[in-house]
Amino acid sequence: MATAATATSGTEWGRTMQVALKIWRSNPDTGERELKRYEVDAPEWACLLDVLDIIKDRVDGTLAYRKSCRMMICGSCGMRMDGRAVLACKERMKPIVESGHVPVISPMGNLPVVKDLVVDMEPFWGKVRAMQPWVQPGYEEYPEKEFRFTQEQMNPIHKEALCIMCGCCVSECNSMESDPEFLGPAALAKGFRFVGDPRDQAKIERLESYNSEHGIWDCTRCYFCNERCPKGVDPRDAIAKLGAESVKEGIDRDMGAKHAKWFVRSAETTGWLRETELVPKTQGVVSAIKQTKFAISLARHGKVPPPFPPHVAAKVGEARALREIVQTQGRLGAAGHIQGEKALARIDHALHEDPEEAGASRIDPGKSRQ
Ligand code: SF4
Ligand code: SF4
Ligand code: FES
Repeated sequence: MATAATATSGTEWGRTMQVALKIWRSNPDTGERELKRYEVDAPEWACLLDVLDIIKDRVDGTLAYRKSCRMMICGSCGMRMDGRAVLACKERMKPIVESGHVPVISPMGNLPVVKDLVVDMEPFWGKVRAMQPWVQPGYEEYPEKEFRFTQEQMNPIHKEALCIMCGCCVSECNSMESDPEFLGPAALAKGFRFVGDPRDQAKIERLESYNSEHGIWDCTRCYFCNERCPKGVDPRDAIAKLGAESVKEGIDRDMGAKHAKWFVRSAETTGWLRETELVPKTQGVVSAIKQTKFAISLARHGKVPPPFPPHVAAKVGEARALREIVQTQGRLGAAGHIQGEKALARIDHALHEDPEEAGASRIDPGKSRQ
């Protein structure tokens, strides 16, 4: 049944609404797990965390969940609403109530459940610690004066520095679901925060470590972490930057790095990704021969285009020109990704502002907005 959406005049909170939630209650000590429905009056301005507080205060004091700041900064209140990770203090309930939907609240994924909505964050923190999340400036004696850096030098790690360690990205990580040892999006975003820090002198050691088993190349690029991060950190982009920086520094022993290099080469020569050449070019002839049976099967199903004459994309010149621009501007490694992020942000900004005004401001950059 949908919850009542009609607003009523409350006494202590002003206008109120009736909110219904279904919450997965669980107690690993006893093995009990049960989906329980709750209905409470809540102020119209309530977020999910407020509603949980009301349930705990007035209906069932045994409900367990984490919270602290209630302002999207401490990262404590990560949980799932209808199967997607959210910060409970960021989710406004009024639109949900008005739609008549009763959301299901459950603990975050990929972390062991302690009780109800509380998960054990130790595996999460263990991976963050493995990143050595502190600046390693490399000097043996403290300098007399502080080193000063410009904002421009710090900008490359701006997004990663916004992480509040809530675990929402980890909750949704496909790769971690199949390999719990995978370092995961939050820890790797933290890794780039230090790899990209101009003060840090341990970049190569860090990249070597992040390139090991369960490291950056085990990411399946599903982008769920970017989608669910409540702070815009875009951890998948941070992993891509670590990959690009590794290749730039010659740390390319992993098959993932070899694939990435081949795709660049493929795009610049024919303007498209020649996946059929991927195995011989990156894994060697022996491995390619071993997979001949599979290749023949693909060819039978029309999945392998004939190698001769080689297909060259009509606008291959554009792909080559792009590659040349990146090289001549020195935008290799993470710098290329950061440049792309800036360009996308500008496009996004233009899409969100008034189109007429955006057009006008493009014609006259000096025009001030009222
Ligand atoms: S993009 Fe990679 S790190 Fe992010 S959720 Fe998917 S598998 Fe995990
Ligand atoms: S990257 Fe985003 S979702 Fe992941 S821990 Fe940091 S703030 Fe949370
Ligand atoms: S309570 Fe701090 S982020 Fe939600």
